[in-house]
Amino acid sequence: MCNFCDVLHQPNRSVSIVALVGVYLCAAAACGWSLPPVLGRCRHCSLVCHSSPSSRWGFGLRRYCRLHLCCAAAQPTPAPPKAPNKHPLKIPCALTDLAGLRPQINSEIMLIRSVGTYLAVIRQFSVAAARTDTVAASSSGGGDTLGRRLLSLVYPKRSAVVAINKWMEEGHAPPRKYQLNRIVRELRKDKRYKHALEVCEWMTLQKDIKLVAGDYAVHLDLITKVRGLNSAEKFFEDLPDRMRGRQTCSALLHAYVQNNLVNKAEALMLKMSECDFLRNPLPYNHMISLYISNGKLEKVLKIIQELKMNTSPDVITFNLWLTACALKNDVESAERVLLELKKAKIDPDWLTYSTLTNLYIKNASLEKAGSTVKEMENRTYRKTRVAYSSLLSLHTNMGNKDDVNRIWKKMKASFRKMNDNEYICMISSLVKLGDFAGAEDLYREWESVSGTNDVRVSNVLLASYINQDQMEIAENFCNEIVQKGVIPSYTTWELFTWGYLKRKNVEKFLDYFGKAISSVKKWSPNQLLVQQAFKIIEEQAHTEGAEELLAILKNAGHVNTNIYNLFLQTYVTAGKMPLIVTERMKKDDVKLDEETHRLLNLTRKMCVSDVSRISS
Ligand SMILES: *[C@@H]1O[C@H](CO)[C@@H](O)[C@H](O)[C@H]1NC(C)=O
Ligand SMILES: *[C@@H]1O[C@H](CO)[C@@H](O)[C@H](O)[C@H]1NC(C)=O
Ligand SMILES: *[C@@H]1O[C@H](CO)[C@@H](O)[C@H](O)[C@H]1NC(C)=O
Repeated sequence: MCNFCDVLHQPNRSVSIVALVGVYLCAAAACGWSLPPVLGRCRHCSLVCHSSPSSRWGFGLRRYCRLHLCCAAAQPTPAPPKAPNKHPLKIPCALTDLAGLRPQINSEIMLIRSVGTYLAVIRQFSVAAARTDTVAASSSGGGDTLGRRLLSLVYPKRSAVVAINKWMEEGHAPPRKYQLNRIVRELRKDKRYKHALEVCEWMTLQKDIKLVAGDYAVHLDLITKVRGLNSAEKFFEDLPDRMRGRQTCSALLHAYVQNNLVNKAEALMLKMSECDFLRNPLPYNHMISLYISNGKLEKVLKIIQELKMNTSPDVITFNLWLTACALKNDVESAERVLLELKKAKIDPDWLTYSTLTNLYIKNASLEKAGSTVKEMENRTYRKTRVAYSSLLSLHTNMGNKDDVNRIWKKMKASFRKMNDNEYICMISSLVKLGDFAGAEDLYREWESVSGTNDVRVSNVLLASYINQDQMEIAENFCNEIVQKGVIPSYTTWELFTWGYLKRKNVEKFLDYFGKAISSVKKWSPNQLLVQQAFKIIEEQAHTEGAEELLAILKNAGHVNTNIYNLFLQTYVTAGKMPLIVTERMKKDDVKLDEETHRLLNLTRKMCVSDVSRISS
């Protein structure tokens, strides 16, 4: 954060007037006021802060401080994690996997997915902290404002530029830069990237609006989100030279990281190093999270050493570093990192302790976990709302039922209404703790208060029924929720598929597997599911099932040599000869390998199977 602003991020600290003035001035600079002389630089974003008579802005000190313009304006917001079409019950609670339904082999996959979620939390949280309370600021005032109009556009097809022009045609004064910046920030927070980008583009066309590097960084980030990486690179290349500085480079780096382009990101880091743009931890943090999400943990230490030569790690660096230790199950290193953090006089936050607690739980050091989770709770406030969910899941993993209920009560007392993610977290906690009646009660409560019909919540209860092999109850439950207007998702059908796989009911699981696949535009293949399905089909020498599964996979655009071999194996086991397999493989553009030939040779002498079953 801005070295002025960060004082404000410590809720328990009294805020001195000096700090307030600092933020004020820093914020003013972010709005592009050209106000000599230079007062100082924001340590985080290097925005130059100017001194100036405060009367010029015409609104109160306090109001401006709440905006945190300085850092929020300069920092490109990381994109929220994209919601892939199929996620096995993605639970927002830290590093937990709920679906015990999936066999243990799958834990590695779950881990990778959870790391993604976790990194997203780290990034989101740190950004959230940088723009606390902007909502309150922007929604004050009431009446008809340009901001209100732009925020109410909602549909992407509507144009922000048209709205601004109309505003001016009605005789209003041209919007000031700080107002537009604020609107852009609000729009980004609502993920309304197209409208935010249109406002940015409008600003660049105004002669009397002076843009600073931070504005271009935001602009670049929006282009990445709306038009993609190529456009962002082009935008960067076309920037005026003096704007191709530290901030826009960081934004481009962030774009590479979001697109998982390790080589490009590394090349850009080299360039940034040559230009001496690496004097703050932000770009390094981008790189660390890139390495972690790619499993390149060995590079994490190296980049941290590099960071230390140029600048000092911040709490995000330490949290990422701890995450790397946790992934390696390396308790000793993690403890050393915590010591180093304390020595650097950096205040650990809830994420620091959440990561440590997770690690201790994995290490079966429940006593240490108990003490770190207390530290974590001590750093959990209204502002760090997502931390409550993490607390729930950590206490659940430690089997602390009383604490889980206590935290839930605390949440209910602190917030007007629990959101869907929080219900998901609590319901799955209750399920994990074996309190099924409690889980069902809470589900009913959610049904009565939420109104979102979010199928992810239903999926938690459904998974619990299916886990307990209560397939009939699960089916009834599913019918019931559909009648209430919940739309089943891929996960819903995949859960049923797993449930009937466990029961070895070929007809049923194929039925649900077909439903699962037709519920998504593009299926991202789940190898484990396919293998298990073929395994059970083969066990039962169920050649019709094999044909049907092959047809489903073909529809989903997922046939390959391995699939055909699994398919043939069923025929071998059944002692039957499949028809025109080589022709079918040719038609599907699938190559035959040695195993295919071996299996074909084996079936050659067997009797012919029923021709009518073959679906093309
Ligand atoms: C916990 O960590 C210690 C120290 O790294 C290690 O020796 C031990 O095997 C770990 N225990 C488990 C259960 O992972
Ligand atoms: C929690 O924080 C308070 C002050 O902020 C401190 O006095 C107390 O010792 C802390 N508790 C724990 C368990 O760290
Ligand atoms: C399959 O059989 C043919 C002839 O019967 C033989 O030439 C070929 O080597 C066999 N292939 C495999 C992989 O066993």
